[in-house]
Amino acid sequence: MKTIIVYTSQTGFTEKYAKLLGERLKGEVLTLKEAKKKPKDYFDGADAIIYGGWAMAGKVSGASWFTKRVDNWKGKKLGCFCVGASPIDAPDVGPCMDKVFNDEQKKFAKTFYCQGGLCYAKMSAPSRMAMKAFASMLAKRKNQTEDQKLMAKMVAQDYDISDPKFLDPIVAFVEG
Ligand SMILES: Cc1cc2nc3c(=O)[nH]c(=O)nc-3n(C[C@H](O)[C@H](O)[C@H](O)COP(=O)(O)O)c2cc1C
Repeated sequence: MKTIIVYTSQTGFTEKYAKLLGERLKGEVLTLKEAKKKPKDYFDGADAIIYGGWAMAGKVSGASWFTKRVDNWKGKKLGCFCVGASPIDAPDVGPCMDKVFNDEQKKFAKTFYCQGGLCYAKMSAPSRMAMKAFASMLAKRKNQTEDQKLMAKMVAQDYDISDPKFLDPIVAFVEG
């Protein structure tokens, strides 16, 4: 069973998950940059290809590289995991995962969500500014529910809600 994991990560959460997944599945782990340099037929021999990207404004970063190719990879195990700062039961997670693949692709490719966190120090300047603006917008929102208040407080600083257990469904999917 040959598995290739391709990922992109800005602050390290997706990278950690991708490398851990690589160890658990004894797969090859490539950054998206490395994957883009590989010849077209490089992925032909793989039985499973998993893509991992971080959530950026409701989308999975870099996922178009994967979604443009999956139609040619039918017959392999195909999965996309998203690493975001939202808890797995947050209302924005479902819609974000739902738009990764089109209806046809959903028949043969699966999505997964892994909780990440926030690390302001490792973000690019534009990312840090966007997250700070988002955090301040949340803090200023009127008539907040307790959950929203908690979220506003959370995103104003660094946190880590990642857990290797979020990889279990991906491992089960590839090995199943
Ligand atoms: C500009 C920007 C937009 C983001 N949008 C989302 C989002 O829509 N949903 C979410 O859960 N997390 C969002 N995040 C948080 C990241 O997805 C989160 O920090 C993730 O763990 C980063 O993964 P990485 O360490 O692999 O870069 C956003 C972060 C930035 C910088």
